[in-house]
Amino acid sequence: MIDAHTRLCAVIGNPVGHSLSPAIHNAAFQAMGLNYVYVAFAVTDVAGCLAGMRALSGFRGMSVTIPHKRAVMRHLDSISPMAMRVGAVNTIVNDGGRLTGDTTDGPGTLRAFAEAGVALAGKRILFLGAGGAVRSVAFAMAEDAHAAQITILGRTASRVKELADDLRAKTPAAIETGDLAGDLADAVADHEVVVQGTPIGMYPDSMDDSPVPRECLRPDLVVFDMVYRPLKTRLIREAEIAGCKTILGVEMLLHQAALQFELWTGEPAPLPVMRRVLIDNLAS
Ligand SMILES: NC(=O)c1ccc[n+]([C@@H]2O[C@H](COP(=O)([O-])OP(=O)(O)OC[C@H]3O[C@@H](n4cnc5c(N)ncnc54)[C@H](OP(=O)(O)O)[C@@H]3O)[C@@H](O)[C@H]2O)c1
Repeated sequence: MIDAHTRLCAVIGNPVGHSLSPAIHNAAFQAMGLNYVYVAFAVTDVAGCLAGMRALSGFRGMSVTIPHKRAVMRHLDSISPMAMRVGAVNTIVNDGGRLTGDTTDGPGTLRAFAEAGVALAGKRILFLGAGGAVRSVAFAMAEDAHAAQITILGRTASRVKELADDLRAKTPAAIETGDLAGDLADAVADHEVVVQGTPIGMYPDSMDDSPVPRECLRPDLVVFDMVYRPLKTRLIREAEIAGCKTILGVEMLLHQAALQFELWTGEPAPLPVMRRVLIDNLAS
């Protein structure tokens, strides 16, 4: 029941109408019997939005999505070391008017790998794409998971170089780069884990596409596709047939939300409930 003690959490972004976060988090709060509610706000005035959060002591937590992940940073009182390295915040916690920023995309993905039984320490990891999601996960794998080598393949050389330079400056992993079209086959052959971080394969426009030719896939490869709509992309389906270990994009979505839940409530996230809500929404 919503009453005078209810604590508020929300996603801010623009647009936010498509967000699954209200469904996931409200189901989790209910399952745990917590007096919290989660809503979505389309926001253009980031400074005003965070001043409002600071002034409302019951406004406990925020998820931050595109296009505000960088813009919120200058309005916070402290920022976690990982969010500072990545240069983006996706989670805010309000402790009595003191706002702390964090990022759960990378750490959540590490949890998804751990849950799948895939160790990353000492591994050579190939990233396809050089956007915001790849940035978050590459930093976590290079720093916290102790990957031996991170290779970034992209179609825009300047964007690849910018991310690679940043990773070299801030993490101990060996960093290589290449062209997504020209270097793909050799790079897949030379790595143990592939992280697909482009929109290729996504519903509705490119569901018949895969960025990795099926002949490149081999049974000892781990394939993680960040795309979560459809639940199983063409890349994942072909990787399963080739005998690869696969991790679905929905697992990243789940675990980044679970970490947010834990930061706001201090309680362990009810993963089965949250996973069920996600899969039901994505399958419909
Ligand atoms: N599972 C999750 O929880 C989760 C979370 C976030 C994102 N995602 C998914 O991850 C993907 C990337 O998201 P993002 O936020 O990182 O997006 P982004 O910042 O826009 O980056 C997209 C990257 O993909 C590249 N790209 C786009 N279209 C391409 C194409 N047709 N061929 C080759 N490369 C292409 C872009 O290259 P250019 O620089 O050349 O444009 C860029 O490097 C999306 O599919 C998104 O849905 C999943």
